[in-house]
Amino acid sequence: MLKVGAAPELMTTSPARDAKASNSIFPPIIRSVSALRRAAGKYRSSSDRVALVPTMGALHAGHMELISAARASCSRTIVSIFVNPTQFAQSEDLQLYPRNEEEDLRKLAEAGVDLVFMPLAGEMYREDFVTSVCLSGPGRGLESTVRPHFFSAVATVVCKLLLQCQPDVAVFGEKDYQQLQVVRRMVRDLDIPSEIMAVATVREMDGLAFSSRNAYLSSTERATAPRLFEILQETAVCLREGGTVVGEIERGTALLRAAGFDGVDYLALCDGESLQPLQLLVRGARLFAAVRLGTTRLIDNLEV
Ligand code: PAJ
Repeated sequence: MLKVGAAPELMTTSPARDAKASNSIFPPIIRSVSALRRAAGKYRSSSDRVALVPTMGALHAGHMELISAARASCSRTIVSIFVNPTQFAQSEDLQLYPRNEEEDLRKLAEAGVDLVFMPLAGEMYREDFVTSVCLSGPGRGLESTVRPHFFSAVATVVCKLLLQCQPDVAVFGEKDYQQLQVVRRMVRDLDIPSEIMAVATVREMDGLAFSSRNAYLSSTERATAPRLFEILQETAVCLREGGTVVGEIERGTALLRAAGFDGVDYLALCDGESLQPLQLLVRGARLFAAVRLGTTRLIDNLEV
């Protein structure tokens, strides 16, 4: 049974603090944009600094680190959980995407989150919804070569969330580094008055980056998966020691294939801000990789 805190309009104390004390009351869930606006507006009018952490749920240690960073910099933390249908291609796993509402709410209560925004798809996208954010720059290349509509869909939903909540700070993970740069550039270009805060990738003990999609891996695939980060690290070392970009990318790609990944969508060295491909190692360069293991796609990146 879900126990949900009172709607913020009716609240006299923070349900998150109650949750901490009793460990049983979840933070209030808001499902409508108008209620989110009211709640966030109340926080702002009491001079609270508001942080927003956008997620698609199935929360893991990576998400929780974003929430800790949000709480450390702001007095109020709002987490959104919305499995955004528009960023899934038809061939992708929208229906299968892991959902665990009750477990998520328990984690958010323990983390001291003030409010959870969980809209239904119809609240975010009316039937006649036609507007989207169109971008190039850091939205080009890498993930876009495999998922051409992905960043427009991500930028559109993040833009909506930022306008709905108007947070002082919005927190994103470096795990999805291209997404982070797309959001940073959109916020700058569209004068959205929120600061974008980045949090370093949180990894399992063996180096595999936490991801909701890791749940899809079989035990054999799970054993192969950490090789992705290891090979990124090895490639970074070789580049730093003077290896050529073309040579090391070729070598790294061959290593990934030999490690048992079923496909290498890309392994590339790019500028960490513009995400333009680099032929030479320069300051701020980053390695990016996307591989397939069975039906699961894994992405990772590393500053060189
Ligand atoms: P989701 O995959 O749920 O990720 C939400 C946030 O958590 C993103 O900013 C992501 O970069 C961050 N994150 C995921 N794994 C991480 C890890 N291992 N270490 C650090 N941060 C990690 O990304 C999305 O959702 C969606 O595209 C969204 C931005 C919510 C728009 O729909």
